[in-house]
Amino acid sequence: MSVADAFDAVAGSYDQARRRLVPCFDAFYGTAVEVAAPPLRAALTAGRTPEVLDLGAGTGLLSLLLAAAVPGVRLTLVDGAPGMLAVAAAHLDARGVPHRTVHADLAGPLPAGRYDAVVSALAVHHLDDSGKRALYRRAADALVPGGVFVNAEQVAGPTSALDRRYDEVWTARITELGSDAEEIAAARERMRHDRPATVAEQCRWLAEAGLVDVDCFFKEWRFAVFGGQRPGGPAR
Ligand SMILES: C[S@@+](CC[C@H](N)C(=O)[O-])C[C@H]1O[C@@H](n2cnc3c(N)ncnc32)[C@H](O)[C@@H]1O
Repeated sequence: MSVADAFDAVAGSYDQARRRLVPCFDAFYGTAVEVAAPPLRAALTAGRTPEVLDLGAGTGLLSLLLAAAVPGVRLTLVDGAPGMLAVAAAHLDARGVPHRTVHADLAGPLPAGRYDAVVSALAVHHLDDSGKRALYRRAADALVPGGVFVNAEQVAGPTSALDRRYDEVWTARITELGSDAEEIAAARERMRHDRPATVAEQCRWLAEAGLVDVDCFFKEWRFAVFGGQRPGGPAR
């Protein structure tokens, strides 16, 4: 089963399980929104519609949070799973948020446009490391000067011992939060497609892609939020 098929198979129930499977849900997505918001607000102040590109947008969780935090944004959601995008489009339509969905592979060209923020959550770790680096270069190139890239991501531990510890803590927390054996087994099945990299490696790739002020803004075990800014715009 491909990654897209694995997610399309759970598109209808995906949202309900998220708060269990991402134990730090609010801080994790909330930090991504905080990192992305300043250039969006700056665009609004300048009289422009802020443009956001969401990579591996799935059912639109991050896009919806951004649209709620910064009303007036226009969203482009890219994903390889059409069923996930259909759920996202229904959510965004219901809230009257301007958007377009693009069914495409993150390994290919990004939808044409210049974006005030390129965002992603829990998607880039499905690419191999050369795919991640190439995607970070394309994302940086797609930003307007001063635009922000942020990735709320599942990362590898810097050592195999820490990686095992990340997994133990995650399993204990999601069990406490009510994930049953079936939900954990289904998540682990999808995780067979995962190829996470460390925060340090990925921050280095973002800097190599030309971004500045690269930082990890949040980290709780395997969940991290990192990103940077394209030079040339107003300071954050
Ligand atoms: C765990 S979900 C995350 C969805 C959403 N960003 C969120 O935070 O809930 C991962 C998403 O990435 C998409 N994805 C994974 N690899 C992809 C690829 N190579 N090209 C396009 N989409 C991909 C999957 O289809 C899925 O919708």
